[in-house]
Amino acid sequence: MPFPIHRPRRLRSNDTLRRMVRETRLSVDDLIYPMFICPGEGVREPIGAMPGVNQLSVDQGVEECREVAGLGIPAVILFGIPESKDAAGTGAYADDGIVQQAIRAIKQNVPDLMVITDVCLCEYTDHGHCGVIKDDDVQNDPTLQLLVKTSLSHVHAGADMVAPSDMMDGRIGAIRTALDEENLTHIPIMAYSAKYASAYYGPFREAAGSTPQFGDRRSYQMDPPNTNEALREVEMDLEEGADIVMVKPALAYLDIIQRVKSTFEVPLAAYNVSGEYAMIKAAGQMGWIDEDRVMMESLVAIKRAGADLILTYFAKDAAKLI
Ligand code: PBG
Ligand code: ZN
Repeated sequence: MPFPIHRPRRLRSNDTLRRMVRETRLSVDDLIYPMFICPGEGVREPIGAMPGVNQLSVDQGVEECREVAGLGIPAVILFGIPESKDAAGTGAYADDGIVQQAIRAIKQNVPDLMVITDVCLCEYTDHGHCGVIKDDDVQNDPTLQLLVKTSLSHVHAGADMVAPSDMMDGRIGAIRTALDEENLTHIPIMAYSAKYASAYYGPFREAAGSTPQFGDRRSYQMDPPNTNEALREVEMDLEEGADIVMVKPALAYLDIIQRVKSTFEVPLAAYNVSGEYAMIKAAGQMGWIDEDRVMMESLVAIKRAGADLILTYFAKDAAKLI
């Protein structure tokens, strides 16, 4: 008997065969593009640690959305940089808040693009925390009311989906109940369910101007070494009415993505965060790695681990290569 009989290399011998037996495929349908909306007109302000990503005024945001939709990307997620901040983050739920303005303009000009909004207070509070503060601590239950107000205000402005990222306990139930009471039963919630207290958010905090002015987010975001706790968070969010759950960050948490997907078998998103983007961009610019290939390999890895949707600053670049 000739040896070896089994030769896995047979199916790797040319691109056509490789295409035929490929197990995971990245599609533009999987991508969600995060955007930062700032005050002013004609503003395209580059973000230092995120090459290719800009803070955009509403008019420029609309232009960017046209491009995103033209590439076939189904959805954007909006973050706001308000004119001014205060202790209660009132800019988050103001009728004419920066995100509310952007939602109206985008839905008017690019109606088929799905507009998701990040629901949190940290971009709008002067202390930079994701909730209201008392005695140097983020108050859970009083924050829920503000998250509800923010969600309703986004949906009233035309948002198609809300994505609470604050990690307060009970927020999904509070938001679902409030939406339903206003007959907004058709609006899905994408919950940042397993969101870790990660150093990979560094560039984002520069982009959104949301660095905490004291302390850190470890009393509400998850401790990186924990896995079982992520499953519990996801379970509770599903019970409270989450339609899509999220794991964040993505690349350093592929095991969590895999475990959430195999345990719950529900629509799962993963957030390929700012620091993950920055590292690949920086090494690419140094000529140390092939940026496009590392990008595609990373995104397909997130998908292979079990994510159905990927929030990524690479969305436009990836869409062009798919
Ligand atoms: C707001 C929020 C953050 C991110 C998404 N929503 C920052 C944070 O929690 O500090 C991070 C996104 C990224 O790093 O790309 N709570
Ligand atoms: Zn926040």
